[in-house]
Amino acid sequence: MGAMKAVVLCGGEGTRLRPFTHTQAKHLLPVAGRPVVEHALEAVREAGITDVVVVVSPGVERQFRERLGDGARLGLRLAYALQPEPKGLAHAVLCAEELLGDEPFLVYLGDNLLERGVAGVVDLFRRERPEAVVSLQRVPDPRRFGVAVVEGRRLVRLVEKPREPPSDLAIVGAYAFTPLLFRAAREIRPSFRGELELTDCLQWLLDRGHTVLPHLVEGWWQDVGRPGDLLVANRLLLARLSPRVEGEVDGSSRVEGSVVVEAGARVVGSRLVGPVWIGAGGTVERAVIGPHVAVGPGAEVRGAHVEDAILMDGARVEGGTLRVSVVGRRAEIRQGSTAYPISAFLGDDSVLGPKEDR
Ligand code: DAU
Repeated sequence: MGAMKAVVLCGGEGTRLRPFTHTQAKHLLPVAGRPVVEHALEAVREAGITDVVVVVSPGVERQFRERLGDGARLGLRLAYALQPEPKGLAHAVLCAEELLGDEPFLVYLGDNLLERGVAGVVDLFRRERPEAVVSLQRVPDPRRFGVAVVEGRRLVRLVEKPREPPSDLAIVGAYAFTPLLFRAAREIRPSFRGELELTDCLQWLLDRGHTVLPHLVEGWWQDVGRPGDLLVANRLLLARLSPRVEGEVDGSSRVEGSVVVEAGARVVGSRLVGPVWIGAGGTVERAVIGPHVAVGPGAEVRGAHVEDAILMDGARVEGGTLRVSVVGRRAEIRQGSTAYPISAFLGDDSVLGPKEDR
């Protein structure tokens, strides 16, 4: 077997993440200081895979190339494949067929974050050489996922988004396949939602007597579908950062818990309560930041209390208390003397506050 490659799926429209996805691809939205997809790509590299095909929609290809480039910065070799329309996960993999060649490959949904990464799937596949491996985890309500029925170590049946789930085992977005997957993807029909489903490809393999192994995922699993998920993922990933202060923190500021201040950031007369991440060129003055806050590169916070929030690049917050919020690039919140804490999901370049000088 040659070196295994990976395909990371970042197509789709991300409509549930509006307004942020009006101006930025879903997988490029920042969580704990890095785009969602970079966390996924790092997991791929940690599983020992360096050749990666990223499948993207044509409209956002440039954004991806600008941010990720050829992957060298991440220790990867990246190639891009375009999916003209979001016709399903199996369709997305077909779009990468030429670049994947005839070796087995990992399929990883670019919006799925896993505490323990994807090494488990890859190792099981390498060890046992089945036709496919599918990752599973028990969830309280599996209806918004693919669902698997397992007997002992054997996978019996898979269904996508069942109204009445036959088990509580949800399909996690990390799979491994041989190139036989391409045939399955060509032979299955679109599902009730009009998409070519990987779930149906797995069932196709099972129906033909091929070995599909389940891999039980341990540790947390979070997919980023809605704005609230960004904050959940932000909390989970911030908690893993190792503290590091490379920027400037003045003598009247206090740093508590796990805090990262990147080089070029400036903290004056403030309290940072970890987990907190302050990006390069970020400014924090007379503020209380944290816990669970990522202040993007070049973002500014003055005279405010910010908790459980993502401030994207160049965002500005002045005054007041902000909680459970995602503030887009260059967006501004000026609370002035507002006494109430607010929660806001504000797209790029939006303004919340008095409009005097506009
Ligand atoms: O998150 C796990 C679930 O992912 C599984 O339990 C389901 O079995 C699987 O079908 C999938 O369901 P979702 O409905 O959550 O998939 P979604 O449409 O959100 O797409 C998942 C990722 O794949 C996302 O990063 C975008 C990308 N994608 C999606 C479609 C539909 C593409 O690249 N191309 C596409 O056509």
